[in-house]
Amino acid sequence: MTSNDAIPAEPTAGGAPASNPVPAANARYGFYNDKVVLQFSIATVVWGIVGMAVGVFIAAQLYWPTIGEGIPWLSYGRLRPLHTNAVIFAFGGSALFATSLHVVQRTCHVRLISDKLAAFVFWGWQAVIVAAAITLPLGMTQGKEYAELEWPIDLLITVVWVAYAVLFFGTIVKRRVNHIYVANWFYGSFILTIALLHIVNNIAMPAGLTKSYSAYSGAVDAMAQWWYGHNAVGFFLTAGFLGMMYYFVPKQAQRPIYSYRLSIVHFWALIAVYMWAGPHHLQYTALPDWVQSLGMVFSLILLAPSWGGALNGILTLSGVWHKLRTDPILKFMIVAISFYMIATFEGPMMSIKTVNSLSHYTDWTVGHVHAGALGWVAMISIGAIYSLLPRLLGRESMYSTKWIDTHFWLHTFGVLLYIAAMWIAGVMQGLMWRATNADGTLTYSFVEALNATYPYYLVRLGGGLVVLSGMGLMALNMWKTFAMAPARAPQPVLAPDISDARA
Ligand code: HEM
Ligand code: HEM
Repeated sequence: MTSNDAIPAEPTAGGAPASNPVPAANARYGFYNDKVVLQFSIATVVWGIVGMAVGVFIAAQLYWPTIGEGIPWLSYGRLRPLHTNAVIFAFGGSALFATSLHVVQRTCHVRLISDKLAAFVFWGWQAVIVAAAITLPLGMTQGKEYAELEWPIDLLITVVWVAYAVLFFGTIVKRRVNHIYVANWFYGSFILTIALLHIVNNIAMPAGLTKSYSAYSGAVDAMAQWWYGHNAVGFFLTAGFLGMMYYFVPKQAQRPIYSYRLSIVHFWALIAVYMWAGPHHLQYTALPDWVQSLGMVFSLILLAPSWGGALNGILTLSGVWHKLRTDPILKFMIVAISFYMIATFEGPMMSIKTVNSLSHYTDWTVGHVHAGALGWVAMISIGAIYSLLPRLLGRESMYSTKWIDTHFWLHTFGVLLYIAAMWIAGVMQGLMWRATNADGTLTYSFVEALNATYPYYLVRLGGGLVVLSGMGLMALNMWKTFAMAPARAPQPVLAPDISDARA
C-alpha cells in the first residue's frame, strides 16, 4: 500500500478550478459529466423537503388523529409508507446517486461511460418516485415494509438499477488509475446488494396491474422480508453513506483518511457480518429460536466494525479539529458520524432478546430509526451536498456559509428533540405495558399508555418542524448559489497523479 492510497486520488477539493488550474493538455481526456450529478443534487434537496414534510404531517396526525379524516389518500396508513419511501429512496437515493456518480468519475479520472445511460438513470429514478407518490396514497401496496411498491414499479426499479450498475461499474472498468478508491467499494457493494435484495424479496405473482401476492408465505415470508429490510438499512442507509463519508470527510477536511488500512477492514467486516443480522427484527416470533439468537449474536458483533469505521471518519480530523469552529459543513459530517455511532450502539443493544422484549412495538424503535435516518443519513447527505454544489457550479462556496451554520444548529436541535422524545416515550410505553399488579392483572390499560405518550408526540412534531425549516433554508441557499453562479465551462478530466498511474 503506498501513501497515495491514503488520499482521494483527485488533488484538490472537488477539482475547484480557481485553486487548481488544469493543464490544457488534460482536456484531451474530455470532460466530467457533472450534469447528472447536479440533477441528482437538486433532487436530493427537493425530495428531502417533500419527504420530511410528509413526515411532519404524519407526526401531526399522531397527535391530532382526526387530521384528514374521511379522505382515504390522506389516511395515516397510506401516508406513512409515502414518508418512508420518499425519505429513503427519493431523498437518500438521490444523494447516493449524486455522490457516487461524482466520486467514481473524480477518483477514476474518467468521464462516465455513457451520457445517455446517465440521463436514463436520472429520469428513470424520477419516474419511480412519481409512480410511488401516486400509487401509495391510492392504497396500492404489497404490504411489505420498505418494499411496498407494486410489481410494475418494481420492474422499472430493476431496469433503472441495472442501468446504474452498468454506468458505475463500467466507469470503474474504464478507470485510468490502478487503484480503486475505498469509497467506490462501499458504493459498489451498495449497488450489488440492493439489486440482490430487491429481486429476491419482490418475487411475486401478479393478480392484475395493481395487485400481487408474494412468492413466500408465513415465517419464510417474514424471514425474506427482514433479510431485505435489515440489509436495506445496512446497504441503502449505511454502506452507500459510508462511501460518502470516505470521500467527502477527507475532501472537506483536506486531510487523508485516518487509516486507509482500517477502511479496508471496515469494508470487509461489514460485508461479512451485516447479512446475518436480519432476524433481530423478528425476536419472539414464529422464526426458529436459533435463528433469532443468530441474528442477535451477529448484531452484537456488528458494533465493532461500525464503531471502527466511524472512528476512522472522525479521527480524519486529527490535527485540524480547529476547522470545526469555522466550517459548518464539517460540523454536519462529524455530528452525522456521531449519530451513526449512537444508532450502531443502540441497535446491537436492542437486538438482545431481553432488551427487545421491552423496546419492540414501542416508539423506542422509531427513536432509533431517526437517530440513524435524520442524524446519520440526512446529516452526511446534507454535508456532502453543501460540499459538492458550489464546486459543480464553479464557486468556492455556497451563497451563505452563515445559513449553513444556522441549518446545522436547526437540524441538530430538531433531531435531538425528536429522538429524545421517542426514547423517553418508548421506554415508558414498554414499562407501562408490562407492569402487573400483585394479582397478575395489568396495571395500566393500553389507552392509559397512549395518553401518557401524547406530550412526546407533540415534542416530536416540534423537532420535525425545526428540521424541516432547516431544509427550507438549504433550498434558499441553493437557489441563491445558482443565481450567483457564473456561466461555466465543463470541468476537464484531471490526469491521474503520477504515483497513481500504475495501470
Ligand atoms: C422532518 C423529519 C421527519 C419527521 C417529522 C419524521 C416523522 C416520522 C413519523 C411520524 C414516522 C411514523 C412513526 C410511527 O409510525 O410511529 C416516521 C417513520 C419513519 N421514518 Fe421518519 N421522519 C422524518 C425524517 C425521516 C428521514 C430523513 C428518514 C430517512 C432517511 C426517515 C425514515 C423513517 C423510517 C424508516 C420510518 C419507519 C420507522 C419504523 O417502522 O420503525 N424519516 N417518521
Ligand atoms: C450495528 C448496527 C445496527 C443494529 C444491530 C441495529 C439493530 C436494530 C434493531 C434490533 C431494531 C429493532 C427491531 C425490532 O424490534 O423490530 C432496529 C430497527 C431499525 N433500525 Fe437499526 N440497527 C443498527 C443500525 C441502524 C442504522 C445505522 C439505521 C439507519 C440508518 C437503522 C435503521 C433501522 C430501522 C429503519 C429500523 C426499523 C425497522 C422497522 O421495524 O421498520 N439501524 N435496528
